[in-house]
Amino acid sequence: MLVLGLESTCDETACAVVRNGQEILSNIVASQADLQSVYGGVVPELASRRHIEVLIPVIDQSLHKANVALEEIDLIAVARGPGLIGALLIGLNGGKALSWALGKPFIGVNHVEAHLYAALMSHTEAVQFPCLGVVLSGGHTAMLFVRSIGDYVLIGQTVDDAIGEAFDKTAKILGLPYPGGPQIEKLAAGRDHSRFPLKAGTVKNQPLSFSFSGLKTAVLYASKGQSANSKDPLILNEEEKKDLAASFQYTAFSDVIHKTFKAAAQYQCQTVIFGGGVCCNQKLKTMFQEANPQLTYLWPHRELTLDNAAMIAGLGYHQYLQKGQGDSLELEAKTRIAF
Ligand code: KG4
Ligand code: ZN
Repeated sequence: MLVLGLESTCDETACAVVRNGQEILSNIVASQADLQSVYGGVVPELASRRHIEVLIPVIDQSLHKANVALEEIDLIAVARGPGLIGALLIGLNGGKALSWALGKPFIGVNHVEAHLYAALMSHTEAVQFPCLGVVLSGGHTAMLFVRSIGDYVLIGQTVDDAIGEAFDKTAKILGLPYPGGPQIEKLAAGRDHSRFPLKAGTVKNQPLSFSFSGLKTAVLYASKGQSANSKDPLILNEEEKKDLAASFQYTAFSDVIHKTFKAAAQYQCQTVIFGGGVCCNQKLKTMFQEANPQLTYLWPHRELTLDNAAMIAGLGYHQYLQKGQGDSLELEAKTRIAF
C-alpha cells in the first residue's frame, strides 16, 4: 500500500511516500528556519504563508523522488494536529483536496503519536510491548505508556514549557539563533556542566510531570544578573557562556532521564522509544546509555527525528488498517489533542 504523507503543523512543509508503513520511497522536508530565524522563533502567519507557497512543489518533488505517479497512491495521511491552526489547515486541506480529486481515502494523524512511530519505523527488530514512549520536541514533552501502536496512556507531561522550547528560549537569552537546540549542543560540547548549579522543576503530586520554565528563568538570571530582563546584555564571558549552556543541557537531560527511569520501573518497561527534535542531541543519547545500559533505547533515525511526513505516512498506514476505513473529509484540524 502506497501512502502519501503530509506534515505542516509548525514551520516545516513536508511530503513523503511510504510503502506499507515502513519503506520510505521519499521524504522531502522544506524547512522555514531561514525565514523564522530572523524573528528568533516561529511567527504563525508567516509559517502559514510559506506552507501555501511550497506545499504543491514539495508534493511534486516527493512523488518525483519516489518515482510514483499520483494515481498510484492508495491513501493520503495528514497531520491534523496538534500544531498552529493556520499552518495545520494548509496541509489538511491540501490532503483533503488530493483525496477528493483522486477518489482515495484520507486519514488524519496525531503529530505527537507519529513522532513515537518514527522510532519504530527506524528499527526492523520487533519491539517489546508494552514500552515507554518519551516525546521531546519543540512543542511537547510527554511520557506515555505504550501498549501497542495506537494504544497509549499519558503518564506525564510538561506543565509549562516543552523541553525544545526551553532550549530555544535559552539559546535566545544567550544570543544564539533559532532553532536553539543544535546551537546549545554545540556550545556545550566538552564544557563544565557543574559550573552553574541549576535545577529543573518538579510538579506537586505528579512525579512524572515536567516543568522547564523555571530553569529557563534561572539561565536568564545567571547570564544577565538577578531580576534581569531578557533584552538586557550578557554579563558572562565566552567561557562562562559555554559552561552555562552545558549546565542547562545537563540539568534538563538529567531530569528527563531520572523521570524516565522512574516511569520504566513503575510500569515495568524494558524498552523506551523516543521521538521529537530534541532526540537529535547526541549528548542525550550518551547520557541515557551511561546512566542505565540495561534498558533498550529505540531512537528515531536522524531524518525521522525532526518534523517530517514519513512518520505521518507510516502511522497513517497502521491507523487505516486498524480502522478499516479512512476519515471523513469533515475531520477538523486540532491545535491540541489529548491522549
Ligand atoms: O519535533 P520538532 O522538529 O518540532 C516539534 O514538533 O516541536 O522539534 C523541534 C525542536 C526545537 O525546539 C529544536 O531546538 C529542538 O527540537 N532540537 C534540539 C536539537 N535539534 C533540534 N534540541 C536539542 N539538541 C539538538 N541537537
Ligand atoms: Zn514535531
